[in-house]
Amino acid sequence: MRLSFHLRIPSSIVTISVFGLGYVGAVTSGCLSQIGHQIIGVDVHEPKVRAFNEGHSPIVEPGLEEMLQSASRDGRLRATTDTAEAVAASTISIICVGTPSLPSGSLDLKYVTLVTQQIAAAVQQQQGKKHILVFRSTMLPGSTRTLVSAQLQNLIHSGHLQVYYCPEFLREGTAVADFRDPSLVVVGTEDGLSPASAEITSLFGGTPSVLRWEGAEMIKYASNYFHALKVGFANEIGRVCKHLEEDALRVMDVVCQDTRLNISRYYMRPGAPFGGSCLPKDVSALRAFARQQGLNLPLLENTQTSNDAHQHQFVQLIEQNGKRRIGLIGLAFKADTDDLRGSPLVAAAETLIGRGFTVSIYDPQINLSRLIGANEQQIQARMPHLAQLLKLAPEELIENCDVLVISQKCVPPATLRAHIRPEHLIIDVMGWEPLKTLPSRYEGLCW
Ligand SMILES: NC(=O)c1ccc[n+]([C@@H]2O[C@H](COP(=O)([O-])OP(=O)(O)OC[C@H]3O[C@@H](n4cnc5c(N)ncnc54)[C@H](O)[C@@H]3O)[C@@H](O)[C@H]2O)c1
Repeated sequence: MRLSFHLRIPSSIVTISVFGLGYVGAVTSGCLSQIGHQIIGVDVHEPKVRAFNEGHSPIVEPGLEEMLQSASRDGRLRATTDTAEAVAASTISIICVGTPSLPSGSLDLKYVTLVTQQIAAAVQQQQGKKHILVFRSTMLPGSTRTLVSAQLQNLIHSGHLQVYYCPEFLREGTAVADFRDPSLVVVGTEDGLSPASAEITSLFGGTPSVLRWEGAEMIKYASNYFHALKVGFANEIGRVCKHLEEDALRVMDVVCQDTRLNISRYYMRPGAPFGGSCLPKDVSALRAFARQQGLNLPLLENTQTSNDAHQHQFVQLIEQNGKRRIGLIGLAFKADTDDLRGSPLVAAAETLIGRGFTVSIYDPQINLSRLIGANEQQIQARMPHLAQLLKLAPEELIENCDVLVISQKCVPPATLRAHIRPEHLIIDVMGWEPLKTLPSRYEGLCW
């Protein structure tokens, strides 16, 4: 199969050792060799090494065999089982060995740990030569730092080794095309600052997002979990559709046509639990329908449970610092509305009042004399004394509270800055950057 793509120009041609010649390692070797790098493949499995040395792909992947053959012909590709020899001959090592599951389901890092040990020993022997180590295998957040602390700290401190974590997002079957035109490029560094080497920034193409090692590791899991969740979600909607004798493929196809709300960043930001007059009601209705029909839909069934857990965590965050005077800035379920139905802030206020906290509220959209219908009924039932809790001016609320729970941008940062005291605790529910710069204590809901 012939693949067409724009040739990526590397910032410099280097010799790279690729550890693990499975799906990721073989594709990485083929693609990096094609843009001019010298590749040394390393694997413990002799037949894979032999195949590589003969210019054959150890795996079936469209386009890969041709690239490996041409690189081998041009002397840009070879393989070995000898780690020390490969490290000595290269400036970068990329670890792509497997990270399988243990019988318990947890992650087995034995191959990564072993290769890291071998590379560390090889770099140690090089008497002063600098080396770059890139972990590409999928590893849980914290793994790179643990491996570094256990085995690589001295080499990093002496300036002989740089360590990066760069997750791989390729899909088998389209791996070559994915490598050439990556959906996402992420570079993890020790402190989240830009990599010290230009090679790393250009190695995997695109414009990398740079995070700490843990953030880069988490992005891989967040991505794969999201994919798994999407498959499960589509299949559960599919089962409901089949039960209704409705065409599930057509339903989900139309759902995906909405790229503003459905397939988009919207709703993909950590923050407040979901609320309002629609999401809780509609989640509840479809769940009840599925139960009545005897459909087993664990994802749909547990969506509300997940939201409840988030609400619980939110209230705990407010309670745990021991201060009793709580100020809520924003009460409606979102900004620029006076809709209090299903608001997580109303639920939080209700819980806090029930537990003896003093709660004050500032929300310029809430005008009690204008609340009507279900909105008013909800407040009558859940917070009959709301009028006494509402403050007309933010200054009054700030001055009389110890904890400020800020879920809306309805008070300008300058007003907050003018009235805040160092002993105030701000709980940021929406991830609003100016709040982090105020002269007070700060706690983000999920950050
Ligand atoms: N397959 C994918 O589509 C994909 C995509 C993204 C990320 N990943 C991740 O990339 C990593 C590799 O996945 P894969 O599918 O390529 O694995 P794989 O099982 O196909 O290949 C792993 C290779 O590592 C070799 N190996 C094991 N120990 C070694 C050692 N000590 N020295 C040298 N080589 C050694 C094995 O012999 C094998 O050839 C995993 O962490 C995986 O989760 C995989």
